[in-house]
Amino acid sequence: FKKITTHSLLQMKQQNERISMLTCYDYSMALLLDSAGVDCLLVGDSASNVMAGHETTLPITLDQMIYHAQCVVRGTNRALVIVDLPFGSYQSNSEIALSSAIRIMKETGAHAIKLEGGLEVVDSIKKIVGAGIPVMGHLGLTPQSIYQFGSYGVRAKEADEANKLLAEAQLLQEAGCFGLVLEKIPAELAKQVSEQLRIPTIGIGAGNACDGQVLVMHDMLGINTEFKPRFLRRYLNLGELIPQAVKAYVADVKSQDFPNAGESY
Ligand code: KIV
Ligand code: NA
Repeated sequence: FKKITTHSLLQMKQQNERISMLTCYDYSMALLLDSAGVDCLLVGDSASNVMAGHETTLPITLDQMIYHAQCVVRGTNRALVIVDLPFGSYQSNSEIALSSAIRIMKETGAHAIKLEGGLEVVDSIKKIVGAGIPVMGHLGLTPQSIYQFGSYGVRAKEADEANKLLAEAQLLQEAGCFGLVLEKIPAELAKQVSEQLRIPTIGIGAGNACDGQVLVMHDMLGINTEFKPRFLRRYLNLGELIPQAVKAYVADVKSQDFPNAGESY
């Protein structure tokens, strides 16, 4: 096999081959997802939700993201590993953004970083790209600014916000991003962005015209049975299968069926 690089993603867009991405936060799952052939593993700050149990992505720290990224990199052979810069690690100024990105690259062995936002992060992106670090952008629903919007609803439904997103996508490409996540925007707008850009777009709740797709691993594996937005396709029902297995184990322990002679020394 060939290791995926940011260059491979560009080629995939040119050859109209869709890019597959899933989030990942630990070694064991990285081994499984990578061996199943997913192109990119995103160490998302959604770890704040699905790993740590926080309501939002805001509390997770750079040190915690670095820990998750180290674990994922150890379990990855082929996929491109991209790590989110968490809230507070890049917004203050471009020097701080660069030093956070450098820490991720130096301490984890990951291949790229991702950060949220448009015009306001362009200087930071230029600085990070200038240091030789591949950067992925993220527009549309940007969970780190959830309190500015107040909801996780679809973004850029109105023309002014849609035009702003189109312009910012262009700015991010010019700043040197190798790719762009589009989260929860109308499919038609995502199509326009994808056609307008040379770099690949990776959609989540952004329709089928994006150059790739990303889902949160826990969501697509059905671990949280409560969360069912329209964009989510469930490939497994672990939220039922895991409790079933655990119930069977508990029952076997209670009944002294486990361990049996063959399971003893
Ligand atoms: O943190 C995350 O999981 C993400 C994806 C939803 C794109 O940023
Ligand atoms: Na994220």
